[in-house]
Amino acid sequence: MNTTTPSQTTPVTRARAVERLVVGMATTDGAGVKLTRVLTHSLQQRLDPFLMLDAFGSDDPHDYIAGFPDHPHRGFETVTYMIAGRMQHRDSAGNEGLLENGGVQWMTAGRGVIHSEIPQQEEGVMEGFQLWLNLPSHEKMNAPWYRDFTAADLPRLVTDAGVAVTVIAGESHGVRGAVTREATAALYLDLHLPARARFAQPLPVGHNAFVYVYRGEVRIAGDAVPSQRMAILANDREADGVVIEASGDAKALLIAGRPLNEPIAQYGPFVMNTKEEIYQALNDFRDGRLA
Ligand code: FE2
Repeated sequence: MNTTTPSQTTPVTRARAVERLVVGMATTDGAGVKLTRVLTHSLQQRLDPFLMLDAFGSDDPHDYIAGFPDHPHRGFETVTYMIAGRMQHRDSAGNEGLLENGGVQWMTAGRGVIHSEIPQQEEGVMEGFQLWLNLPSHEKMNAPWYRDFTAADLPRLVTDAGVAVTVIAGESHGVRGAVTREATAALYLDLHLPARARFAQPLPVGHNAFVYVYRGEVRIAGDAVPSQRMAILANDREADGVVIEASGDAKALLIAGRPLNEPIAQYGPFVMNTKEEIYQALNDFRDGRLA
């Protein structure tokens, strides 16, 4: 484990409020994987640069066993965080990797990949998240990029209050994450809060931010955020961060980023800026030019 002692505690003097709580939508994707779409299409503008967050978690193999056979992507990045379970990834750029307990797979589709994500277990719990992070228009057609991080590879810190923080992207308490992105300055933290702990994270003004609680319950600026709820944080121009408090043990994702403020044209696994670019992606995929 890559645990670092936090070098600083940046104070948050005015904390963002909860704008609204969102209940995810039950759906299926891939070859019939049951999941909860937490960040849905209708929130893409509000939570720009994030396009989607899926939560999957089941101990019934029927819910996950079929996985996600070969499918394309273009124009954005997928970040898969596996809490429990084993998933094999293969893509048309020749990358292959096994994602398991606590690991992260970061894939930049760029101008295009075709990949598969197939569970490597026939029983037991599979739990995790897939986040879609948009790319700015000038990076959408970049070459694909891919990296696997095992749990041990991910930077981690424990605050004075005992909050264990995994820094998947961005920076927290002086610890730099596994991945940094200039255009969106994406922040992606997994927080494990012991009972009665308080966690403060500075957030730049104007960055869209949300918290997804997946164990226990937290309070943000006086509002309770129960398990399996996403709290969209208000973009208060006076606020300089978020403060999360746990009454009992709790686990939550804190995700934030600088909005791209560009048009979003999405057709399934392609996310571009214009309809014409979507037609081009479809043509390229059909003619085998995507990968
Ligand atoms: Fe995919």
